[in-house]
Amino acid sequence: MASQTTSTVSRRNLLAAAATVPAMMAMAGNSTAQDAERPAQGKVAIVTGSSRGIGAATARRLAADGYKVTVNCVVNRDLAEGVANEIKAAGGESIWVQADVSDPAAVKRLFDATERAFGGVDVVVSNAGIMRLAPFGQMEDADFDRMFDVNVKGGFNVMREAARRVRDGGRIICTSSSITILRSPTYGPYAASKAAQEFFANILAKELAGRNISVNAIAPGLVNTTLFTDGKTPEQIAGFVQRTPHGRLAEPEDIAGVTSMLCSERGWWISGQTVFANGGIV
Ligand SMILES: NC(=O)c1ccc[n+]([C@@H]2O[C@H](COP(=O)([O-])OP(=O)(O)OC[C@H]3O[C@@H](n4cnc5c(N)ncnc54)[C@H](OP(=O)(O)O)[C@@H]3O)[C@@H](O)[C@H]2O)c1
Repeated sequence: MASQTTSTVSRRNLLAAAATVPAMMAMAGNSTAQDAERPAQGKVAIVTGSSRGIGAATARRLAADGYKVTVNCVVNRDLAEGVANEIKAAGGESIWVQADVSDPAAVKRLFDATERAFGGVDVVVSNAGIMRLAPFGQMEDADFDRMFDVNVKGGFNVMREAARRVRDGGRIICTSSSITILRSPTYGPYAASKAAQEFFANILAKELAGRNISVNAIAPGLVNTTLFTDGKTPEQIAGFVQRTPHGRLAEPEDIAGVTSMLCSERGWWISGQTVFANGGIV
């Protein structure tokens, strides 16, 4: 009798749990498998550091997926405006906002402007970052401090605001680097600032439990942007290329495609992870 009661209760619990799954999937925007590739019409994305490089490619890609996109820069206002104009010319909706992510008030302003323009925020890609390389003995305090201000404090400012404002069912993605595995000389402080992103993503994913928000870090490898190429000789770059399985650097669009996948309805069960998007170099 006791076991019959237990099994009846268990069956009831299972049925109740099964009944909640479709509702949870609908909340997360996952109503059926056929909807898996539905474009994100009407949803809103902020991509920090999207005036150029990986961020610009990500802004364009998410706009093509149907997101209304806020483009962000710190210095290159003309480039940010250009990306937003390109998105609009292609039939999308976009604004651009100058905001230094290391300044919490500026980050609030970035989110405020997005909510005013588009009514809310569904996706945040914390991509803005800088890289200063030197062996330990030669790293300047100012370079170390600025890198941690932008990458760690800035990344935190953006994730905190995202935690407060992203709507249920949304996505938050921050940007690490495969250097957290490669660990090459001169990359020590930069690698440490990127490792922080992996902790941010994993822990925030848990804190937002129950709201169907996926949080991940993306960790690109060697990407063909000025962040990677500046300060390197063609021979040094060729040396890096030789180590890549595909015999080339990634283009920013290669990384944007992975971010788009993580933001898609089909990608939503990936959460709390660091997704190494590096063409297999590590
Ligand atoms: N390229 C690589 O090989 C590689 C590999 C792994 C990870 N990553 C990471 O990927 C992200 C993007 O890198 P990327 O190669 O595309 O760099 P990038 O071409 O140098 O572009 C950097 C972007 O970040 C913006 N930015 C810089 N400081 C900012 C600040 N304080 N506030 C707001 N925006 C700021 C820049 O705006 P302005 O135009 O106004 O300066 C620009 O839009 C970075 O987090 C980087 O660490 C890159």
